[in-house]
Amino acid sequence: MRVIITNDYTEMSCEVARIIAHQILAKEDSVLGLPTGDTPTGMYEELVQMYNCGVIDFFKVITFNLDEYYGLPPDHPQSYHRYMREKLFNYVNTQEGNIHIPDGVAKDIEEECRRYEEEIYRYGGIDLQVLGIGANGHIGFNEPGSDWEMITSLVKLSEGTRRREARHFRDPAEVPTQGITMGIKTIMKARKILLLASGKEKAKATTKALEGPVTKRVPASILQLHPMVTVIVDKEAGKFVSNLKTPLRYLPVE
Ligand code: PGA
Repeated sequence: MRVIITNDYTEMSCEVARIIAHQILAKEDSVLGLPTGDTPTGMYEELVQMYNCGVIDFFKVITFNLDEYYGLPPDHPQSYHRYMREKLFNYVNTQEGNIHIPDGVAKDIEEECRRYEEEIYRYGGIDLQVLGIGANGHIGFNEPGSDWEMITSLVKLSEGTRRREARHFRDPAEVPTQGITMGIKTIMKARKILLLASGKEKAKATTKALEGPVTKRVPASILQLHPMVTVIVDKEAGKFVSNLKTPLRYLPVE
């Protein structure tokens, strides 16, 4: 596991975008696993800028989103379909057919999960999976206690996750109670993984994930067992990480 601690959110976002750009430059039809949430918004802004400057091209890139709320149609303002359009796809040249996001209103959800998982492997598997981390250590909607063997599934959102996500909804009661998520097993099959964390509310979960025991109580801790993980956190999220005092790399900003 390589840990990069950046000075702030902006540096974190630039560094993640730089790694994604390298991936796309090395393989133009890279299969990317993409997250939503507040953490990656800066990363998407950077990627759009790189696209606008002609540094990267999304034409052949394949994307698979990590998760989607169950019950929200793609045009719902809080759906992850909508998030992805507003943060990335409206501004770059990704082909419609190459964009994959679980359908939160599929008639047959079990079939949708099976189809999604199969689709990932039809494209040869995920080359680079980008992840945020929840304050409870979740990755995707894999909440504490999730099975390590789980593939894409319909899952229950924890109350903590629902409370936190309520900030985006008019009424907290509108926050869906379930989501479709790539499972831990799906995530662990990605060839490379980037884990991002920003802000002090992520500090405890980040330290547990990186330095604590590998336990289902902290789903992100499984990443310690993956051979190619880069963790990119800002100083606040990384403040309890023991190598902050002697970081493996301290990033200059360009
Ligand atoms: P956030 O969510 O980026 O909105 O903090 C991350 C997550 O819960 O995975």
